[in-house]
Amino acid sequence: MDRMTSWYCSPRARQWTCATSSGRALRFHQSLPGYAPTPLVSVPALADELRVGRVLLKDESSRLGLPAFKVLGASWACHQVLEAQPGATLVTATDGNHGRAVARMASQFGVAAIVFVPEVMIPATARGIAGEGAKLVWVDGDYDEAVRRAAAFAERPGHALVQDTAWAGYERVPAWIVEGYQTLLGEVDDQLGAAPDLVAVPVGVGSLAEGVVRHYRRAGRQDGSHPSVLSVEPDTAACVLASLIAGRPTTVPTAATVMAGLNCGTMSSSAWPVLSAGCDAAAAVTDDGALRAVADLDRLGISSGPCGAATLAGARAVLTDQARRAACDLDEDAVVVLLSTEGNSR
Ligand SMILES: Cc1ncc(COP(=O)(O)O)c(C=O)c1O
Repeated sequence: MDRMTSWYCSPRARQWTCATSSGRALRFHQSLPGYAPTPLVSVPALADELRVGRVLLKDESSRLGLPAFKVLGASWACHQVLEAQPGATLVTATDGNHGRAVARMASQFGVAAIVFVPEVMIPATARGIAGEGAKLVWVDGDYDEAVRRAAAFAERPGHALVQDTAWAGYERVPAWIVEGYQTLLGEVDDQLGAAPDLVAVPVGVGSLAEGVVRHYRRAGRQDGSHPSVLSVEPDTAACVLASLIAGRPTTVPTAATVMAGLNCGTMSSSAWPVLSAGCDAAAAVTDDGALRAVADLDRLGISSGPCGAATLAGARAVLTDQARRAACDLDEDAVVVLLSTEGNSR
C-alpha cells in the first residue's frame, strides 16, 4: 500500500449530523456490578512529540473485568437479545475480544454461548474465550467466513446471533452494539469537559467508528465544536479506507496482522452510510508502526495492545505531515484523544 492509498480525508464530513442516541445503554451499564468509567490519561510526552496541546488516551485495558472495550457493546446487545428471546443460546463469530465478551455475558446471564473463530486465531486468545465457558467452533477460513458460518448456525430454533457487524437484513443487534460502545464517549465528555479536536479510532468492521462519528456528529451538540474523527486500520485489512476511497463498500483480501481485532475484510453495512458521510479522515498503519506504539506506551507506563496502540501510530501518520495536519485543521493547541481499546496481553 503506497502513501496515496493509505490516506483519506473528507473536508465536508464535519458538516454532517445525525440523530442523538437514546442513552439507554449508558443507564444499563451504570446498573451493572463493577461498572466504572475507564481512565482518560494525559500523556504530555506524546503532546510534545506530536506538537499539539494535549494528548489524552482512553485506557480500555480493564473494562467490566475484561481487557478490552468490547464488552460495552456485547453486554447491552446480549441483554436486549435475551429480553426478546429468553434462554436463547448466544452465537457469534470473533477475532477475539467480542467473542470473549459475549461468552462472559452468556455465563452471567446463565445461557450457553457458541463462538466461531477463524483458523488464524492464536491459541491463547481461543483459550480466553473457552475459559469463559463458551463452546468454540474453528472455521477453516478468515473472519468474514467465521461470520457467515455463525450466522447460518444461529438460524436454528433457540439460538440467537449476537454479531458486532451489520449486513442487509441484520441490523438490529449491531445497532445495540454501537449504542453500547457510545458509553465510553460519554465518559470522555465528562472527563475532558470540552470537545477534543481529533479522535483516533481503531477500526475493524467500523462499528466502533460508527459510534464515535454518531457521538460527535449528533444533532444539537451545544458547543459548536467539530472534532475530527480519524479511522485507523492495519494496512493488510483496510476495508474502511478502501471503501471511503472507492466511494462504495469494498471488501479487501486480508493477511495476518498483530492487530488481530482489526483483521476484517468487509465493513459493517450500517457503518458505511455513517462513515462515508461523517468520518473526516482514515489512515492505514503497518504492524511495525503499531508495535512501536505498543512499546512506546509501555515505556510511558500505559498498557495498550496493538489494536489500541494503532491509534498512536495513526495519529503519528497524520500529525507529522503538514498537509494532513492542515486538512484536519489541527494546530499546536489541538487536543487529541486516542482510543486505546485493549490492554497489552504480551
Ligand atoms: C481491541 C479492539 N479495538 C478495536 C476494534 C475495532 O472495532 P470494530 O470492529 O467495531 O471496528 C476491535 C474489534 O474487534 C477490537 O477488538
